[in-house]
Amino acid sequence: MARQLDEQIAGRFPVGQRLRVLDVGMGQGTQALRLARAGHQVTGVEQDPKMISAAHEELAGEPEGIRERVRIVQGDGRDTGVHFLPGSFDVVLCHGVLMYIEEPDPLLAGLARMLAPGGLLSLLVRNGDALAMRPGLGGDWGAALAAFDTTAYRNRLGLDVRADRLAELTATLAGIGAPLHAWYGVRVFTDTAADGAEIPTDVEALLAVEERAGKTDPYRSVAALLHLCGVRG
Ligand SMILES: C[S@@+](CC[C@H](N)C(=O)[O-])C[C@H]1O[C@@H](n2cnc3c(N)ncnc32)[C@H](O)[C@@H]1O
Repeated sequence: MARQLDEQIAGRFPVGQRLRVLDVGMGQGTQALRLARAGHQVTGVEQDPKMISAAHEELAGEPEGIRERVRIVQGDGRDTGVHFLPGSFDVVLCHGVLMYIEEPDPLLAGLARMLAPGGLLSLLVRNGDALAMRPGLGGDWGAALAAFDTTAYRNRLGLDVRADRLAELTATLAGIGAPLHAWYGVRVFTDTAADGAEIPTDVEALLAVEERAGKTDPYRSVAALLHLCGVRG
């Protein structure tokens, strides 16, 4: 994700420009902190107080110059219009959030409105075109068969959530004025790794393979997650 995002940022903005980044559903702030360390001005929106505490804790360990570049707002990602002015961000991230939103279109339209012209919208969603992969690779044939005809799934936390299909999101992005510019697969080969699995010693090679597969057909199409990048017209 980080490499894909950096590739898109590098291809779109001049080197050294301090970008205004909005991270909606920032969680514990992994990307937000990384981008702040890279010199950008980051605003995170998160609704879960536990995640906000975790993000504040992470941030507390950073030097002041980085801390002052991060602002954390507790709120619902669907209410960005209440907190911020339209067109006030260069990059808007919404990673791992759409799964939890029953009606994603208003959220997405709100995020697109936050972008300045030429700004980048980066979405990470569960791939609704390849939901049979996880149960299929696990040998759960009943679940695999059922997964072909739905975008609903139960995640590893046991929550009933939803996936998004590439064609539908492509149409949505065009409709909200931030047409799809690039897309990647995320977790092509590693989706079946157990939660909490040890980081392997050859992690650099693993990342190189994932990065390559994530931008190569046909591999990216069956990734567990899709990373979509729209650009505000
Ligand atoms: C799977 S985590 C992803 C965190 C982070 N974006 C990342 O990629 O590591 C999803 C996060 O989105 C938050 N979230 C879900 N729905 C939200 C909403 N409507 N508004 C704000 N945050 C939301 C959850 O509380 C959770 O922290």
